[in-house]
Amino acid sequence: MDYKIELEKLKEAFLYREIKKIEKLEGKYIFFEGKKYLDFSSSNYLGLRDDRRIIEIMKKALDEYGVGSGASRLVVGTAKVFEELEEYLAKLKNKDKALFFNSGYDLNLGVISAIANKGTYVFCDKLNHASIYDGISLSKSNLIRYKHNDIKDLERNLEKYKGVEDKLLVTDTVFSMDGDKAKLKEIVKLKDKYGFRIMVDEAHAGGVLGENGMGLVEAENLYERIDIIMGTFSKAYGGQGAYVVGDKDFIEYLINKTRSLIYTTSLPPSIVAGNLEALKISINEKFRKETLKENSEYLRETLNKEGFFIGESETQIIPVIFDSNEEALFYYEELLKKGIYLPAIRKPTVMKARLRISLGYKIEKIDIDYLINALVEIKNTLN
Ligand SMILES: Cc1ncc(COP(=O)(O)O)c(C=O)c1O
Repeated sequence: MDYKIELEKLKEAFLYREIKKIEKLEGKYIFFEGKKYLDFSSSNYLGLRDDRRIIEIMKKALDEYGVGSGASRLVVGTAKVFEELEEYLAKLKNKDKALFFNSGYDLNLGVISAIANKGTYVFCDKLNHASIYDGISLSKSNLIRYKHNDIKDLERNLEKYKGVEDKLLVTDTVFSMDGDKAKLKEIVKLKDKYGFRIMVDEAHAGGVLGENGMGLVEAENLYERIDIIMGTFSKAYGGQGAYVVGDKDFIEYLINKTRSLIYTTSLPPSIVAGNLEALKISINEKFRKETLKENSEYLRETLNKEGFFIGESETQIIPVIFDSNEEALFYYEELLKKGIYLPAIRKPTVMKARLRISLGYKIEKIDIDYLINALVEIKNTLN
């Protein structure tokens, strides 16, 4: 393979990616190229990424356990703090057991490929996260994509494959590029009719939705109906890693079968201790998610009023959707000049080019007003 030619092809198709060099992330700000910007791009939804209490707990864990984990948990065993985190999570989620993974990506890859095989038909929302698609692909199962959040299309597909015995439905609960929620209640009704396992990905709902921030399953009181729940620590909790919860046999099965758990060195105990502390703080300080909810509503309403199109967003992820990649890029560059970092996501990564706002607790109303004024000013210059 000629990498240079491949890179040229990517550039021609506007698919070339680069990793931005940043100097610092601090509260609501991001620093790069010697300048400070308001950060509307991070998934640090609860503002816990630089919480001093979490940092202190992590430092203590470093002293106690050392820098690394040494090997896979299946080889070297598990530090107590992993068990503490898993037991705490299982209780919060009303399930028998939880299992910690190094990342949401690793988890989806490993778990889906462990629980589906050639005989499985996996029903997958078109806008599910890439890690879900990669897990399905690795499992060699049969991928059935249904139109985004379209229950009629899902049912059409279920009807078509109703003779299949082993069916699995996987969905994000909050969609990462659109900020809308999966129609879990309707999906559960179809489960009664057609019989399938349900796995949900709460990556963007964790910490944010439900009384304890446990996600959409908690918010809609569906614990009894959803078989497998995964979530991440990398977003609202400001840390790293992911978890899956389910019944005892299921978790034991995963420990025996999941290659992305078995064949990798686990994250250091200090990271796990930080995640546990973040989880506890999120539950004791519900004002974080409440403020986020209020601010998200305010931002969505104001954007609507100002004539911007935000699709079906219902959460802290709010896309501002444009007609073309060029328009989205123009807004991105103009916002940078005004001290706002809000990246453009372009076609074909998404179906419609957009600025993807990812709101965090540390962003205040005054910052939201500043963003809206900036967007309106840019719109006026275009008109
Ligand atoms: C819906 C969803 N699932 C899984 C992941 C992967 O999680 P992680 O970043 O912890 O690997 C992401 C990350 O962007 C996501 O948006």
